[in-house]
Amino acid sequence: MKISTLLLIANLFLGGAAVAAPAIDMDYITAVKSGGDTTVFFKGESIQAFRNPAQNLTEAQIQRHMAGDALFERNFSDDAGRFDHGLGPVYNNTNCNACHAKDGRGALPVFPIGATWVPLKQNEAVFLRISIEDDIKRPKTAENNWGAPVAVPGFSDQLFHLGSFGVRPDLPGVGQAQVWMSYEKTTFTYADGEKVELRKPIFKVTGAYDEYFDSVTGQVRSRLYEKDVKMGPRIGTPMIGLGLLEAIKESDIRALAARDLSDEGVKGQVNMVFDIEKSMAGDPYPVSMGRFGLKNNTPSVFHQSLGALRGDIGVTNYAFPKESIAGTPLYDSYMNSKQGAPALEASDEVANDLVFYSQTLAVPSRRNVEDPTVIRGANLFHQTSCTSCHQPSFVTGPHKIEAFSNQKIYPYTDMLLHDMGEGLADGRQDFDASGSQWKTRPLWGMGQTQTINPRAGFLHDGRARTLEEAILWHGGEAEYSKKKFVNLPKADRTALIQFIRSL
Ligand code: HEC
Ligand code: HEC
Repeated sequence: MKISTLLLIANLFLGGAAVAAPAIDMDYITAVKSGGDTTVFFKGESIQAFRNPAQNLTEAQIQRHMAGDALFERNFSDDAGRFDHGLGPVYNNTNCNACHAKDGRGALPVFPIGATWVPLKQNEAVFLRISIEDDIKRPKTAENNWGAPVAVPGFSDQLFHLGSFGVRPDLPGVGQAQVWMSYEKTTFTYADGEKVELRKPIFKVTGAYDEYFDSVTGQVRSRLYEKDVKMGPRIGTPMIGLGLLEAIKESDIRALAARDLSDEGVKGQVNMVFDIEKSMAGDPYPVSMGRFGLKNNTPSVFHQSLGALRGDIGVTNYAFPKESIAGTPLYDSYMNSKQGAPALEASDEVANDLVFYSQTLAVPSRRNVEDPTVIRGANLFHQTSCTSCHQPSFVTGPHKIEAFSNQKIYPYTDMLLHDMGEGLADGRQDFDASGSQWKTRPLWGMGQTQTINPRAGFLHDGRARTLEEAILWHGGEAEYSKKKFVNLPKADRTALIQFIRSL
């Protein structure tokens, strides 16, 4: 019997986790098929790189993917007489594709020359998640919505800046409040004197629907303007390979979290979050490991997609049958002007096809893997400890869509939360994620990102215009690795970025 087998048995006896963390397989350096057999091949960069079905789907599955594709681009309407009715009464955009541009990521608003603040109007890919500060670590129960962020009373856990006709007679087009954005700029200086300008979007809120003038304090007040309200900006993320990320074995993710990387100051953590599918199935403890969302705050593509349909667009569906703002005074006064009880807005078929589509977008192949600079950069990616969080590869476990099972994939994420320091913090908790923790973003497809959407920005709020800026924002647990990057000679920094551009 081999020692490893003995250890395994000993572990089983002791009730310990018998699974070793997936190794860092150095074959990533030249691997081309980032999404295993789902991979779609591209010679160069292409505006179409993210818009393809997984290449190993059956003919029937491709048909279904195409049906979902049309729905992903459908502009929902708030006109009750139309077949595509359902938008609103409050929302952040009118279709999925508007925030996930060509299945890639969104961009921050354009600033007219001379403007320092711009209002978020129609068609912005960024919105604010909101909640009440809640630092108490507590067991997850039905009473506290299984540890979910505490909604702002009278609002929700997301701020809807757009509204249907009649929602805000005082501010037509606006939803719960008006959101404004500006930039805060800083400069990073390398040891050799080279400077990089960094910018971070900052937000302010006006025109909340419950706003009033407090004659005692002489201030304009709203529940939304109180100090305990936390706001975190989020920008639309790429849609590729999500079914594959669902198929990564939970035991692999847990084993990565259990590694001892204390000499680098790295400590990954899982987020345990509310699971609508378990809840619908009557599970008494509807909590699962989070995998999606920028803080891993949803467990599945199903939960995230139908949550977005109801939340971001305002289209109720069988998983989320009530409007996000149901029960708030804004909703009640709007509904008073309507007749009849609201019906479910999306059919089950529409909902299911959207989920299927979101699960089945192919990952594009890598390019230029034989370029010596790319190979040097790939080695530097490991030497500078990027791989401590951006785990290069996994072999997936079973998935109900067979195409995703047992695939060797190269997503460059450990699927875990990491404290990324003050510079990136939004100060807003989300289930077990703190105000400074974020999920390690997958890096597959990175080289195609700005071909698909030239204005697309990196990181959770789209602040970074370049890959270099994205790296320079790394802090907290990533400080050790960032320092190694910063201390490289310029040619090596460029090579490392060339490697990311080959993904
Ligand atoms: C207003 C912009 C907006 C709209 C509209 C929108 N999304 Fe998103 N989407 C986002 C943002 C922002 C995130 C990250 C959310 C978070 O971290 O909380 C996201 C995340 C996701 C994710 C998880 C991706 C990942 O890697 O974790 C999926 C799946 C998704 N959206 C599907 C959809 C679908 C399907 C629709 C249409 C029904 C849709 N989205 C509409 C902005 C949007
Ligand atoms: C401690 C873990 C950790 C280490 C080490 C780390 N990263 Fe990251 N990385 C993250 C997290 C978490 C995010 C997401 C931050 C956010 O959403 O704001 C991220 C985001 C990124 C992004 C932007 C991705 C996107 O989709 O916007 C790039 C590029 C990146 N990392 C590259 C690197 C490189 C290169 C290194 C090594 C020099 C590195 N990272 C080291 C955790 C890490």
